[in-house]
Amino acid sequence: MEIMGRGFRQIIQETPSYFHLFLKYGSYKLLNKRSPIYGSADIINVCNLHCSHCYWWLNRKENEELTVEQWKQIIENKFKKNHIFIITLVGGEPTMRPDVVELFIKEFPKRVCLVTNGTFPLKKYDDIYFYWISIDGTEEIHNKIRGKDAYAMSRKNIMDYIENNGEKAWKDIWITMTINSLNYKTVKDVAEEWHDYSNKIGFQFHTPFGKGDPLWLPFGAERTKVVDDIISMKKQYDDDYIINPTSQLELMKKNWGGKGTTPVDCPTWAILSVDHMGREKKPCCIGSADKDTMKPICEDCGLGCYSVLVGYGIKG
Ligand SMILES: C[S@@+](CC[C@H](N)C(=O)[O-])C[C@H]1O[C@@H](n2cnc3c(N)ncnc32)[C@H](O)[C@@H]1O
Ligand code: SF4
Ligand code: SF4
Repeated sequence: MEIMGRGFRQIIQETPSYFHLFLKYGSYKLLNKRSPIYGSADIINVCNLHCSHCYWWLNRKENEELTVEQWKQIIENKFKKNHIFIITLVGGEPTMRPDVVELFIKEFPKRVCLVTNGTFPLKKYDDIYFYWISIDGTEEIHNKIRGKDAYAMSRKNIMDYIENNGEKAWKDIWITMTINSLNYKTVKDVAEEWHDYSNKIGFQFHTPFGKGDPLWLPFGAERTKVVDDIISMKKQYDDDYIINPTSQLELMKKNWGGKGTTPVDCPTWAILSVDHMGREKKPCCIGSADKDTMKPICEDCGLGCYSVLVGYGIKG
């Protein structure tokens, strides 16, 4: 038996974490008390790609990085203190800081998701929860967004990982696709192409940082059809391959998060997000610790990590 890629024995071992999780959920539902459930850390401020849709480049400034020892302090003072259940490592490209990745996995065994562009060889970590690998279309479109040869590099690294790390290695590979106006017609092809080489796939939509962003897929008939196609695919792949719940997908057809750049229904409090210096990002994981920077447009938001919570009744 597996729930969200977690086996029965693992769930038993994690009982203390579930205790805090249920306590947080109960306190929210009964007392409206808000305490972060998930964490996200930009462990690096460098990236080897310059993808056309990427929010990270928009507000990137300094080149500084924290040491492993400094990250250890942040883990203790922020993530552990708040009994954070699952941590997502982001960046920049987080696989370029294997020292920090190792630290997080050691501190949170089976509770770290490593979001990566997959262009570097994927190291085998016995205690990783999973690799979230960004695939943004079929080869031609993915490369248009992510740069020449990006697709071939990621594909090779995924195939090598599956081949070299035992019969269960494919379970560590989860695919994430950010849907935009360039790639929305490839959603079915991406699911088809990766189904045999990955455990799960998750979809989210591009969030713009300015009105008139040509990559944003506007609300309306075309976007609704994309969502309906994903819902149909959920039935086609009856093995829970598509991870988005239908309640979340329905929300993604329209504005679910906020007004202008202000979150309203979006449960920003539920994910404790820190930047590459360990500073808390506002209003959410794609925001910034610096208030004088470009802000995501909440009313056009397509992010998966927050809308999934709204779909489950957790709001701002
Ligand atoms: C910033 S990247 C960092 C991790 C890694 N470099 C990667 O590409 O997966 C994290 C995720 O955010 C997604 N992303 C980037 N810009 C976005 C935007 N404006 N709206 C929604 N998702 C975005 C990327 O496609 C990727 O899946
Ligand atoms: S690889 Fe990730 S962090 Fe780097 S530019 Fe692309 S989306 Fe952004
Ligand atoms: S996830 Fe960020 S951009 Fe989207 S609605 Fe929430 S705060 Fe706004």
